[in-house]
Amino acid sequence: METKILSCSRGSLELAKKYIEEGEVVAFHTETVYGLGANAFSDDAVLKIFELKGRPSDNPLIVHVHQGYDISPLIDREPSYAAALRKAFLPGPLTMVYPSTGKVSKYVSCGLDTLAIRVPSSPTAQVFLREADLPIAAPSANLSKHVSPVTARHVYDDFNGKIPLILDGGACSGGIESTVLDCTEELPLILREGLVTREMIASVVGDCGVYHAQKGEQPKSPGMAYKHYSPRCKTAYYLAEDLPKAIHGYEKARSEGEDPCFLCESEVCRKLNGYHTLDLGGTDEEMARRLYDLLRKGEKSATLLIGIEPKKKDGVMAGVLNRMRRAFGVEHGTEES
Ligand code: TXA
Ligand code: MG
Repeated sequence: METKILSCSRGSLELAKKYIEEGEVVAFHTETVYGLGANAFSDDAVLKIFELKGRPSDNPLIVHVHQGYDISPLIDREPSYAAALRKAFLPGPLTMVYPSTGKVSKYVSCGLDTLAIRVPSSPTAQVFLREADLPIAAPSANLSKHVSPVTARHVYDDFNGKIPLILDGGACSGGIESTVLDCTEELPLILREGLVTREMIASVVGDCGVYHAQKGEQPKSPGMAYKHYSPRCKTAYYLAEDLPKAIHGYEKARSEGEDPCFLCESEVCRKLNGYHTLDLGGTDEEMARRLYDLLRKGEKSATLLIGIEPKKKDGVMAGVLNRMRRAFGVEHGTEES
């Protein structure tokens, strides 16, 4: 199968709609990462996503809809705080988990009685979803465990010949996946941190927790139990205060014939003059936007990628650090696809 990369036009949108109606899988730009979309009502189309990605069958998918799409037939109830959050943050990088009515394919939620819904703000995603006019189940458009894609080229690298179309909207401005928020209880609970932060949610509804699975417990968001975002090279990880140790690791690797490279924030990069470095940037938003692209660049240009943890931990950095630690295999028992 030929994989076309097309930007949005009448022709490409009609083609995308045709593929979706035929039960095919179409990749599309969103403001977070590219998604691999299929008709959420069709068992076969949804199963095709799992097969293409090599995704574990117990890791549920997010359903994407355009702004204004009536989600009431899909969800059983909506707490009042969820309506307030929808008004404040949608369309945008916030996925909300509701009690499901079970109208979409049972394979979307992998047997859970909840449904994750997202309204992306990317104009490409919006026109695609409007054209399809169906709920579109879509995980990130990467092979399971690999780094999420933030350009059409990244999607092509993982799925060339396997999907008919990538709707190209350019580089993703957000760069890490949406915040996943459980809206099934009295209070909202973040299951996956992202660009809509705990602080932002709390400023609208007063309070918001962040869920951390206890050891041995089945996580509320099954995806968090899988290895994820991994570059295809050796990795090492250090805290910024352990920079001397990291440099020692780099030198040792070089003497053993490795081709090491640091991945760190700008401030640390400046101290590593003369070493091979990839610069994550200086602000939270820059680091979110560049992380996945640099992990993919790193796996191509180095045999050992040495991550240095940025110093800032709150706000958007909570999401960036979650992805970075998992990419470098630091946070065990928490992986995704
Ligand atoms: O930004 C994003 O969310 C991107 C773009 C394409 O929209 N999508 C994405 O999908 O990151 P995926 O499949 O890579 O991650 C979905 C996450 C997983 O951790 C999954 O376990 C969780 O959402 N999830 C999906 N449905 C859920 C549900 N009903 N209850 C709890 N967690 C759910
Ligand atoms: Mg993913």
